[in-house]
Amino acid sequence: MEKNTYITLSNGQKIPSLALGTWQATGEKLRNALRAAIKCGYRHIDTAYMYQNETEIGQTLRELINEGAVKREDLFITTKLWSTFNQPGKVEDGFMLSLKALQLDYIDLYLMHTPTAVKYIDDKTLMPPAEDGGPGFALEDVHYIDTWKAMEPLVEKGLAKSIGVSNVNLQQLGEILRIAKVPCVNNQIENHPFLDQTGLIKFSKENNVSISAFGPLGSPERPWAPENDKNLRNDPVVKKIADSRKCTPVQILIAYNLSQGLVCAPKSTCVERIEENFKSLDVKLTTDEINQLEGLACNFRGFSWDFMIKHKHYPF
Ligand SMILES: NC(=O)c1ccc[n+]([C@@H]2O[C@H](COP(=O)([O-])OP(=O)(O)OC[C@H]3O[C@@H](n4cnc5c(N)ncnc54)[C@H](OP(=O)(O)O)[C@@H]3O)[C@@H](O)[C@H]2O)c1
Repeated sequence: MEKNTYITLSNGQKIPSLALGTWQATGEKLRNALRAAIKCGYRHIDTAYMYQNETEIGQTLRELINEGAVKREDLFITTKLWSTFNQPGKVEDGFMLSLKALQLDYIDLYLMHTPTAVKYIDDKTLMPPAEDGGPGFALEDVHYIDTWKAMEPLVEKGLAKSIGVSNVNLQQLGEILRIAKVPCVNNQIENHPFLDQTGLIKFSKENNVSISAFGPLGSPERPWAPENDKNLRNDPVVKKIADSRKCTPVQILIAYNLSQGLVCAPKSTCVERIEENFKSLDVKLTTDEINQLEGLACNFRGFSWDFMIKHKHYPF
């Protein structure tokens, strides 16, 4: 019987390895998914101010806590500072919006969503168009080091248990680690067999920074996916390993991350899939199987953050 597993972060906090991803999940579908996930055993929810679903998540979790279905202290909530709040003077404002929407008095893990600041217009304008009328967002000249320094007081004030980063490259992570007074405990990155992240993962692990994998199934629902999008679930190597283990290709893709000691956040709003994905905790891949999957790397990045490509701190 599958059971949650935990990874101990460098500050001693324990993070459940499997999270429910929630990007593009809203309304009744999201509420039902959260209920199903908690019932099934998930204790880690991954959201972000950018997803604009923190209010629904907050309401549903509050109901579940009040019903006695789960205790707050057993939940692990990850959310993220959206890039329009990367200016140091805006960081705490952005954080408080998430905290309030989630109806919590602390966040377990708060991540800098991107190292590339976007122009702040107002709290609701998340993707201001580029001022020159060109493609992408209106960008702001803020250094991620300054954003990081403004995130540290959130831990010192007890508002966040831990802080970390997302979508940074190895050199940017190294710079943050050199100046961090509060440990950077987590780096959330796109990770699946089609993208070689071994260098960044090795560097993060060597520096006591845990890794969370986003888009573990290749993020097939991302709005900018091309018609001939590469499909991880249909890959013959993934299917062969799944057949040999009598499990599904999706379970192999999730286990690819879990078996390497990474946190993994697959998104689903379908009850059967939420249960199927949780069963990945039972699948322990061998080194040989992981090597076979790593062999599929083909530089496929679903999240290249092209909307921010002109930023001087663009990571990729
Ligand atoms: N830090 C960042 O910048 C960043 C970026 C992207 C994502 N994330 C986080 O990572 C999470 C996961 O990434 P993602 O949502 O982009 O993509 P993903 O988890 O790779 O894929 C989600 C898609 O796979 C489908 N799916 C899930 N389980 C399935 C199953 N067992 N069988 C078949 N299809 C299945 C889902 O559909 P159904 O819902 O219909 O089942 C959905 O279309 C996000 O939700 C978010 O929390 C973070």
